[in-house]
Amino acid sequence: MRFRDAAHYVRDDPDRGVFRVHRDLFSDEALFELELQHIFEGGWVYVCAEFQVARPNDFYCTKVGRRSVIVSRDEGGKLHCFYNTCRHRGATICHVERGNKKYHVCDYHGWTYDSSGRNFDIKDRKEGAYPDSFDDCDHDLIPVAKFEGYAGLLFVSLKADVASLEDYLGDARTFIDLAMKQGPDGMEFVPGRTNYTFNGNWKLQIDNGMDAYHLTSTHRSFVNTINRREAGQSSNQQANSQNIPSRFALESGMFNFENGHAVIWSDQPDLEKLPLFGAIDEVRARVGKIRAKWMLRGCNLTIFPNLQIADSTSLILRTILPLAVDRTEMTMYSMAPVGEALELRTRRIRQHEDFFNITGMATPDDTVIYEDCQNGLSVGADDWLQCFERGMAALKPGADAHARELGLSPVASMSGRYAVQNEVCYHSAYREWVRRLSGIAA
Ligand code: FES
Ligand SMILES: [Fe+2]
Repeated sequence: MRFRDAAHYVRDDPDRGVFRVHRDLFSDEALFELELQHIFEGGWVYVCAEFQVARPNDFYCTKVGRRSVIVSRDEGGKLHCFYNTCRHRGATICHVERGNKKYHVCDYHGWTYDSSGRNFDIKDRKEGAYPDSFDDCDHDLIPVAKFEGYAGLLFVSLKADVASLEDYLGDARTFIDLAMKQGPDGMEFVPGRTNYTFNGNWKLQIDNGMDAYHLTSTHRSFVNTINRREAGQSSNQQANSQNIPSRFALESGMFNFENGHAVIWSDQPDLEKLPLFGAIDEVRARVGKIRAKWMLRGCNLTIFPNLQIADSTSLILRTILPLAVDRTEMTMYSMAPVGEALELRTRRIRQHEDFFNITGMATPDDTVIYEDCQNGLSVGADDWLQCFERGMAALKPGADAHARELGLSPVASMSGRYAVQNEVCYHSAYREWVRRLSGIAA
């Protein structure tokens, strides 16, 4: 398919109540290539949490689009991020996801770099008969163009000409704070993580991470299991997740932010089942009544294009790595306050296993449905998806009362009964998609 202007693929006409996205966005390989170049390798992308590289010489290896990078804390405690490639012949320097190393030694000819990326040794340099001009170029690992952090989360941009990270995140920062400030001594990942792939486009995860509409249909087995537990038909005393249908009477809403970010939120029915509820007095005293109330709300946040933080039965952080137009790699962590009481941590882990974990009752349903979508989207029908208008009649430009309570100025707000299960929260991502791919038509 020949790429036309990006706006051709997204019909965005709020005055007429129209928002439609063309199916090609999920199946066209040429569009996928442009997404890699202009979204994942052309702007801010989440790489890892600061606490994953907490000690001097800790490193974490990950990918920004197709490019392998190393995040490393040097001896003096300063963080760096460089491309994972040797200056000599280009070999990959680091082959493991994480670890602690004072020196990274290249397997090929033994060039050695320290944890700040500085070239520490060129093997047998003295005997090498190098000309003086050899030192015209530095021999250190190549730093990425931009590397900044917010609230303990680290982001990279491979392109230098971008807004500051704070400006890029904008008001979505408030929801990062609501997740990252739950513990008096900070946050950590529960040891271990799940890493899995699905045969579907990465944007299926972007949307589904904020999709309340699918819960009662895709996740029937979860709902049925909770119903049986609540009816006393299960001997499982450990997992005690909240039910989904009981949320329908509750208040909910969403905010669309600039630059592709969005969040859906809802009140939760059984606060006492939440791990954080057991520590809420300390939380309230530290962050105030309003923020403590929001920390107990269900919030599913998307930081475009590759980070989602979901807080419902437990708190998770997941990353999205596009591998092909129809293949995506996910990494998911259970996140928790440092020093959490054992009883609360146990409940958190059981509820993570229950719903979010790849062996739980929700995520496998989601990945299967993504593959179902990908198969359907690949039939080649020249058509427009019809999901984006659910909740549109209740959409308000700017802030609603809930946004004002948090001091936010979103692009748009929607709130109402949970049963709305809005899908207008997806608008931000596709507007950003248009913005990034505009003006590059071949
Ligand atoms: S490629 Fe790294 S030392 Fe030769
Ligand atoms: Fe789901």
